[in-house]
Amino acid sequence: GFSWKLKEHPKIPKGKAVAVVVLDGWGEANPDKYNCIHVAETPTMDSLKKGAPDRWRLVRAHGTAVGLPTEDDMGNSEVGHNALGAGRIFAQGAKLVDLALASGKIFEGEGFKYIKESFNSNTLHLIGLLSDGGVHSRLDQLQLLLKGASERGAKRICVHILTDGRDVLDGSSVKFIETLENDLTKLREKGTDAKIASGGGRMYVTMDRYENDWEVVKRGWDAQVLGEAPYNFRCAIEAVKKLRAEPKSNDQYLPPFVIVDESGKPVGPIVDGDAVVTFNFRADRMVMLAKALEYQDFDKFDRVRFPKIRYAGMLQYDGELKLPNHYLVSPPEIERTSGEYLVHNGIRTFACSETVKFGHVTFFWNGNRSGYFNPALEEYVEVPSDSGITFNVKPKMKAMEIAEKARDAILSGKFDQIRVNLPNGDMVGHTGDIEATIVACKAADEAVKMILDAIEKVGGIYVVTADHGNAEDMVKRNKAGQPLLDKNGQIQILTSHTLEPVPIAIGGPGLGNFVRFRKDVPSGGLANVAATVMNLHGFEAPSDYETTLIEVVDK
Ligand code: 3PG
Ligand code: CO
Repeated sequence: GFSWKLKEHPKIPKGKAVAVVVLDGWGEANPDKYNCIHVAETPTMDSLKKGAPDRWRLVRAHGTAVGLPTEDDMGNSEVGHNALGAGRIFAQGAKLVDLALASGKIFEGEGFKYIKESFNSNTLHLIGLLSDGGVHSRLDQLQLLLKGASERGAKRICVHILTDGRDVLDGSSVKFIETLENDLTKLREKGTDAKIASGGGRMYVTMDRYENDWEVVKRGWDAQVLGEAPYNFRCAIEAVKKLRAEPKSNDQYLPPFVIVDESGKPVGPIVDGDAVVTFNFRADRMVMLAKALEYQDFDKFDRVRFPKIRYAGMLQYDGELKLPNHYLVSPPEIERTSGEYLVHNGIRTFACSETVKFGHVTFFWNGNRSGYFNPALEEYVEVPSDSGITFNVKPKMKAMEIAEKARDAILSGKFDQIRVNLPNGDMVGHTGDIEATIVACKAADEAVKMILDAIEKVGGIYVVTADHGNAEDMVKRNKAGQPLLDKNGQIQILTSHTLEPVPIAIGGPGLGNFVRFRKDVPSGGLANVAATVMNLHGFEAPSDYETTLIEVVDK
């Protein structure tokens, strides 16, 4: 029968402290001036690369290597940390929703049947990120959902949009809204009263994560549910064009707005009897809204009105909390993660990041599962993030505080695995501020040094890697790799992640001289890291895990 017990590794001893450091948004790309990692002073990461050739390599962090639909899909933190923690490649939300839409199964499932009960006499509301980024949602999936709902009797549909500019170019919101408006016009011609009802920028409205700032969710609630916002417009394209024309405004941070009719009344507040679908497939930035929509008992902000709705998520966002209760597509079943195995085998685990990435090394790492496996053996520490700022203002973020916590955990001798996420390359990279991203990369490098120094002191082992690319390329390029210019001759800033591979380095005094990277896993990806880490703890990985990246050469 099944057993959690892992076999001992024949050659690697147990009992060493293993630091697992994930640099968020840290890929490997050509060294040029838009590569902030290259431009920044990063002596620690440089030395890992130059140090021991058989202890540094690249791994794939995008596309099918992390369970995304195609090789054109950039990596992201959810799928990256899922793969790192689970050691296997699971078809991810993006792919599962594609399949359910293509087969039509999405419309036959329990979730759709549930919301359908509102179609005749009430409104269907769709809330989510409007772009083709493919990280949290995809426009083409929304289009198919709209079409399918209208064909299956939805009389009235309201779309509550969140503009992107973070997984896609800033300013692209306008063209996505035009596409959506076009579709909605067609639905109206077919007899479904379909329109956009509210909007706002994803980072300022609704899509906060890990409870960093409930005000963000409240702003969205006021617009989407109550029909109240600082700005009223008759049409969403006009709204976005006007609001973007304000100084320093961008897609990510657009203020909330509500669409009103000729008499100034909001066209689509959410009321008793309505159905609501949050159409993002990715969990982290939907969990807070899902709680507000679903929980009777709720004290994070004053909802003013709590409508009795039929609510379904595109996916179930948290398996442990069963949140939400109803959903259109079943999430990937990421079970038997490396974290759960290792805890069952006595590995005392410490995990830490700051708020904005805290769930990455806990929730995502553990297969989208919140909480501890065994609180007696685990400690998860969250360093509070700054809230209400864009991180180019404070690009060092909490890297040093995270490193100090990791250092103390290593020196305490209380833990076998010390796992951290250093957010700088990613969070500052997403702002598109090149100068700030250079500072961010240097800060992350200094944090790595502090952790490696602690590992040196205790005779431990380190694994330093990343979840996907971001800071290594800050400009949109053509196929030949040259920077693309806009109509004013300015480079187009790339705020999003990339398709680049990421580095992985191993070392530390606890790592026997005879351990090195194998040569026969050239296309290795993030999913190969879990078996590698299990080996470094002195265990063999389960047989269905992606193979280890290391070997032990006989001396
Ligand atoms: C975000 O949610 O901030 C971006 O869409 C993706 O970034 P992450 O995958 O690095 O969290
Ligand atoms: Co990111």
